[in-house]
Amino acid sequence: MKVVRTIAELEPAPGTGLVPTMGALHDGHVALLRAARAENETVVMSLFVNPAQFDEQADLDAYPRDEAGDLAIAEREGVDVVFAPAADELYPPGFTTWVDPGDAGAEGAARPGHFRGAATVCLKLFNLVRPERAYFGQKDAQQVAVMRRLVQDLNVPVEIRAVPTVRDPDGLALSSRNARLSPEERERALGLPRALAAAAGAPDPVAVARGSLNGLEPDYVELLDLGDAKLLAAAIRVGSTRLIDNVLLEGEIR
Ligand code: PAJ
Repeated sequence: MKVVRTIAELEPAPGTGLVPTMGALHDGHVALLRAARAENETVVMSLFVNPAQFDEQADLDAYPRDEAGDLAIAEREGVDVVFAPAADELYPPGFTTWVDPGDAGAEGAARPGHFRGAATVCLKLFNLVRPERAYFGQKDAQQVAVMRRLVQDLNVPVEIRAVPTVRDPDGLALSSRNARLSPEERERALGLPRALAAAAGAPDPVAVARGSLNGLEPDYVELLDLGDAKLLAAAIRVGSTRLIDNVLLEGEIR
């Protein structure tokens, strides 16, 4: 496995699958790496905590980092190249051009600037790595929608693949943010996947999910269209931690 820190060292190759990450890898990221490994000749994983997509400096500072652990997981999963640039490699002095994804649903409205930062860094990664396919998690369904829109609107020759959400045995979707929950908060957080599961299949899933949240205050509950799949997505706050999740209502994740 090669670890590359500069753009100059990247060597785009046909048949490449790209898995963009911000590190602190867990089994959700591993599912993306496995999907990419199964479908591509070469797998490139990016490891870059993208400052442009954090709306709060404190959130960026607190973001978990464990490069040695991440490289060990990447190696174990058969990644060929890890691209782990410093911030000024992707945002050198004088950088001024941004991708504006336009409407990014309730999640976009709740996090001003977030999808602009994520879309910009991913377009840069697509241009640098030139993958045939790029892999994103269903957990961040609005991000999948933004990436599909981006490649369609800007004619980027990359197929956006979505990988089903990986959960803990109790149903909580894996997220680097789960580490911030106290045991009591974690118990309350389980109300989110339970409410979504209860709503799937109901005639009015938004109302059923809202009614099943048992006192958890949702940021939003909304329907989301990924083209091949219709989802029910929600965000809640538990203490100071914000969690998102979604369930499949119709179609399939691909
Ligand atoms: P990050 O939060 O590191 O997530 C990297 C990828 O892992 C995303 O596509 C995310 O949806 C996926 N993922 C996270 N938890 C998951 C789970 N429980 N099951 C399945 N997939 C999961 O998302 C980002 O980084 C950034 O926005 C990025 C795309 C790298 C751009 O900076």
